[in-house]
Amino acid sequence: MKFLRKSLAIFLLLTMVFTIAACSSDEETKTETTTKTEDTKKEETKKEEPADDEIVIGLSLPTQQEERWVRDKEKMEAAAEEAGVKLLVQVANNDVAQQDAQAKNLIAQGIDVLILAPQDAAAAASIVEAASEEGIPVISYDRLITNTDKLDYYLSFDNVRVGELQGAYITDLVSEGNYIIMSGAPTDNNAKLFKEGAMTYLQPLIDEGKVNVIVDQPVDDWKPENALKIIENALTKANNDVQAILAPNDGTAGGAIQALAAQGLDGQVPITGQDAELAAAQRIVEGTQSMTIFKDTRMLGAEAINIAIALANGEEVKTNGAVSNNSVDVPSVLLTPYVVDKDNIDELLIESGYLKKEDVYK
Ligand code: BGC
Repeated sequence: MKFLRKSLAIFLLLTMVFTIAACSSDEETKTETTTKTEDTKKEETKKEEPADDEIVIGLSLPTQQEERWVRDKEKMEAAAEEAGVKLLVQVANNDVAQQDAQAKNLIAQGIDVLILAPQDAAAAASIVEAASEEGIPVISYDRLITNTDKLDYYLSFDNVRVGELQGAYITDLVSEGNYIIMSGAPTDNNAKLFKEGAMTYLQPLIDEGKVNVIVDQPVDDWKPENALKIIENALTKANNDVQAILAPNDGTAGGAIQALAAQGLDGQVPITGQDAELAAAQRIVEGTQSMTIFKDTRMLGAEAINIAIALANGEEVKTNGAVSNNSVDVPSVLLTPYVVDKDNIDELLIESGYLKKEDVYK
């Protein structure tokens, strides 16, 4: 009886130890520990159990719709692995509620830092507030989260500059005539900044009566098919008499160029872009898209992981600016965007290793 009680006590103790170990580890470990022998169990548990000081970073992305977001994710995964930190990734498929649930779930998992690229700038404030209550710092990634004074850092490119580069380029090519102006998703603060930058070049020409705006419309969710419809309707409205198009990114430029092609106008109407997507690079060398903006997501992704690790270690982060989010001036790290057209595409996109020559010139 005594022996039985003692064995039972040891068994219970062991069960407790392994239950605790399994709970603090991931799903894989849980299933494995239930099927392995006691000895292997001990080893597995030792290996899988996160060390007390292991840094865990949460990453919440809005979408993989554009190629750039695929690259951002890949870069951050590689950088985290290289630095020996754990990265938990969630992608929200352009869905505000999904991102809210995913990000709050990451917070509940006890991450040390959250990197958050919001689907909706204002709605994401509630995620920042939830993180802040748990003492988890948040880095607003690429897109600014607005309307909260709890945001710690903003890491992006100089987005007003992006718009200025687009506006300067297109007005340099076409300084009078009929324009179609598209802007990005109204839920994305970047869309506002890009347009603000572009309009510093367009507005004076509009005021002088040189540029006539046929249509000025935002593209919901940045969807190429929405851009295609906007351009189809605008072409109909203007009887195809259009001299230039301001497209906020390569995805929307792609949709617009499809609409132009249906009218035999592709390659005849200068059009902007942004993101240095492969398809856009191909269109630039073919002559159907005038330019794109190169924002090196390799640098942005690597920097995000660096900052996250510094924050997790309680270290200071060097910033190079501050951007207002309608609530506070958020300490910011802003990288430089570059114009790419057929004259410098080899140097900026191919020689830098961002795209492969054989893919661009196919
Ligand atoms: C990004 C762009 C991107 C767009 C659509 C913006 O916030 O800065 O690079 O094309 O979102 O995803």
